[in-house]
Amino acid sequence: MKLADNKATLSFSNGSPSVEMPVYQGSIGPDVIDIRKLYAQTGMFTYDPGFLSTASCQSAITYIDGDKGELLYRGYPIEQLAVNCDFLETCHLLLYGNLPNETQKKDFTSRVTNHTMVNEQMQFFLRGFRRDAHPMAVLTGLVGALSAFYHDSTDINNPQHREVAAIRLIAKMPTLVAMAYKYGKGEPYMYPRNDLSYAGNFLRMMFGTPCEDYVVNPVLERALDRIFILHADHEQNASTSTVRLCGSSGTNPFAAIAAGVACLWGPAHGGANEACLNMLEDIQRQGGVSKVGEFMEKVKDKNSGVKLMGFGHRVYKNYDPRAKLMQETCNEVLKELGLENDPLFKLAKELEKIALEDDYFVSRKLYPNVDFYSGIVQRAMGIPVNLFTGIFALARTVGWIAQLNEMISDPEYKIGRPRQLFTGSERAGKRAAAIQTLIVDGPRPPTHESPPHPGGLFLWCAGSASRPRIVVTPVTVQRVLP
Ligand code: SDX
Repeated sequence: MKLADNKATLSFSNGSPSVEMPVYQGSIGPDVIDIRKLYAQTGMFTYDPGFLSTASCQSAITYIDGDKGELLYRGYPIEQLAVNCDFLETCHLLLYGNLPNETQKKDFTSRVTNHTMVNEQMQFFLRGFRRDAHPMAVLTGLVGALSAFYHDSTDINNPQHREVAAIRLIAKMPTLVAMAYKYGKGEPYMYPRNDLSYAGNFLRMMFGTPCEDYVVNPVLERALDRIFILHADHEQNASTSTVRLCGSSGTNPFAAIAAGVACLWGPAHGGANEACLNMLEDIQRQGGVSKVGEFMEKVKDKNSGVKLMGFGHRVYKNYDPRAKLMQETCNEVLKELGLENDPLFKLAKELEKIALEDDYFVSRKLYPNVDFYSGIVQRAMGIPVNLFTGIFALARTVGWIAQLNEMISDPEYKIGRPRQLFTGSERAGKRAAAIQTLIVDGPRPPTHESPPHPGGLFLWCAGSASRPRIVVTPVTVQRVLP
């Protein structure tokens, strides 16, 4: 971090001494006011639920300019990566800070490919779930279960161990997501193959069967690889912050990533793609494009609780660059599959058109985000709606790991432990009598029939069967506990 020339001064209207705080500059983006000494100097905390104005860390991985609608992975614009690179090259960039050369790419691809299988015991975890369990519930369990297989070989503070855990997680997520899908369908699992690409392998594990060869469609393979790139990382979003906070205790990296999977599931976050597609299907069922106006009125009515899912973002106050790329991918896939007239795609484009012209959305700077079109393209590829967030988690795993590893390798990192503004009851006060506890051996515990003498309350506590122990506490008898 680079110290800025100016400083921040906090002054109080009640005459308390003002406090000076250093300001640090990032390489790009907003400066930060370093408040780490604030509590020691003032006895006060800052208050920022939802962290709208709080930087939780310093990071060199991903930068978002919400006003410009810009997204950079290690300085590379997402538009360039999505067109010129593949997902594993992007993983290398996020993890190590550079796009791989030919040799590095070959080595990285080989390491990931050779870790795609999971322990045969993993399939028995799935059997504990109902067949109709939500895939995100299954995935949360499976990713957490990975820590049971690698806990003894994972010292999060050992860089080599972090490296192996990163490769294992990136490699195994597609296998686990496909297993969750197959389990729900009652179909046999498909083992990964080493002669397929990362995305091609996933398509085959999802849609292949042991009964016949599966031929990977190159257009769908490329589209899915791009979807992975678009979801790979996104600065300190809710699930990444969850992984960082969870990992800050030094827990097993698989457990920390499982926490990220759980957080991503929420409809305000990664679950929005599933919620968005369900929203489009609902409107379609009610009449489609002709019902858009009526639906938009509900969205604008605060009391309806209806939101335009896939729209709006905490950081982007302009078009999410990923949404544009996702719309292009949508066009390519629908054309390849002869679904150019897909009614949901038409409906989504109509919703977007109306929203971008409506003052409610324009005044609030609400634009399509990554989730608005991702559901349509995944549905067209045959991926079930309830698996969309699982695909998001698969792709985001590399971002979570890169951010976790960046935190752990920062010598300044501490366990995350936020404070609060307490608004609950004050100390119980005078009602609590001074308590002096005498411990006596008693012949028998008190009973309803023979309650303790008015001056004492007997608390029956576990003691040796032959010599029960009774604690005599001389407080006003409120009632004899049963
Ligand atoms: C992801 O953080 C990330 O980077 C996340 C993510 C990633 O890659 O990790 O980008 C992935 O989570 C994308 C977001 C997916 N979620 C959705 O699409 C769900 C719908 N969107 C909203 O829930 C909302 O926009 C959020 C949660 C995304 C952002 O909410 P904020 O920043 O807390 O903003 P807000 O809820 O305070 O909204 C500001 C105003 C409010 O109206 P007013 O109180 O000012 O009158 O905009 C309104 C909101 O009611 N609003 C919406 C809306 N989103 C915000 N109104 C209708 N429809 C919407 N979608």
